Amino acid sequence: MSVAIQEKQILCQNARDVARAAVERHGATREELISILTDVNEELGYIPAEALEEISSLLQSPRSQILSVASFYRMLSTKPKGQHVILFCGSAPCHVVGGRELREAIQSELGLEPGETSADGRWTLEATSCLGLCSVGPVIIIDGDIYGNVTPEQLPDILARYE
Ligand code: FES
Repeated sequence: MSVAIQEKQILCQNARDVARAAVERHGATREELISILTDVNEELGYIPAEALEEISSLLQSPRSQILSVASFYRMLSTKPKGQHVILFCGSAPCHVVGGRELREAIQSELGLEPGETSADGRWTLEATSCLGLCSVGPVIIIDGDIYGNVTPEQLPDILARYE
């Protein structure tokens, strides 16, 4: 068996173990599903398919229902994210004060469309609706750090803080 296959099996088993531990902590009931998914997401950075299967089995709920809950909430992800996550406000108030130009600059700088993660796993770009910070738009949030009144010219310096 190749090393890559062994590593993949270990990751799959780890995802199942993490999911099982979360179910044991909260209880195998549908009412605790969001808490269970949140725990797995926090521990692994996202919710792998194997974790969804394990939760589905332990809660005796169809995998499609578990997936639909996991996909609904912004705080949860079923795909691995990059080391740094850029949240970009795509709502109209930010858009009209330079958000469009900023979005183009981010996309050009990182070569990413919203929802994508860079091939090196460094960046994930996500578009979001109003972040409640319209008075300082355009706004981006990187790993929880808020940047307001951002111009395309400031972007390289901001991104460099995460190198
Ligand atoms: S529209 Fe961008 S923060 Fe409100």
